[in-house]
Amino acid sequence: MKYFIFPLFFLSTAAMAEDARQLVTLPPAAQESLRQEMLDNLLAINEVLALMAEGKVKEAGAAAEAKLGMSAMGKHRSKPFDARPGPHMPPAMHGIGMDGHKAVSEFAAVAKTGDRDKALALLPNLTSACVGCHFSYRTR
Ligand code: HEC
Repeated sequence: MKYFIFPLFFLSTAAMAEDARQLVTLPPAAQESLRQEMLDNLLAINEVLALMAEGKVKEAGAAAEAKLGMSAMGKHRSKPFDARPGPHMPPAMHGIGMDGHKAVSEFAAVAKTGDRDKALALLPNLTSACVGCHFSYRTR
């Protein structure tokens, strides 16, 4: 019985599951730009959540718009082509990213009015594109 339980345990872990996500190969410089942007995204989400928890709803809206919303698009525009992630992504992947910025701006517009309940209802807009892209694509 002992011999049986061990493999079953491993089969049940995510590590054994086949990674069915689409592999996207970006130029190294674009990958590095993206990695930096992603770490900034993490910080920004944490900041917005903390502001919401403190009841600073308008501030949360302002931070979300500036750091994750449509205002945050085009950060890599002035970089060399090889260092710009967007143009090297498949269009559908790029689309998820752009839809994500729009979804954050929807949250931000409501939060900027100070309406906490309505802003809370749109809070998942902050992370839905993160999840959507990460569950569909990988770069390694
Ligand atoms: C359009 C697709 C896309 C969206 C949207 C997206 N990501 Fe990513 N993310 C990536 C890719 C691709 C990588 C891998 C980059 C690399 O090759 O290093 C990545 C990497 C990361 C990493 C790892 C960084 C590291 O240290 O290597 C974090 C954390 C992360 N993303 C967080 C987020 C968060 C938070 C959001 C939402 C605000 C988000 N991502 C939205 C595509 C996306």
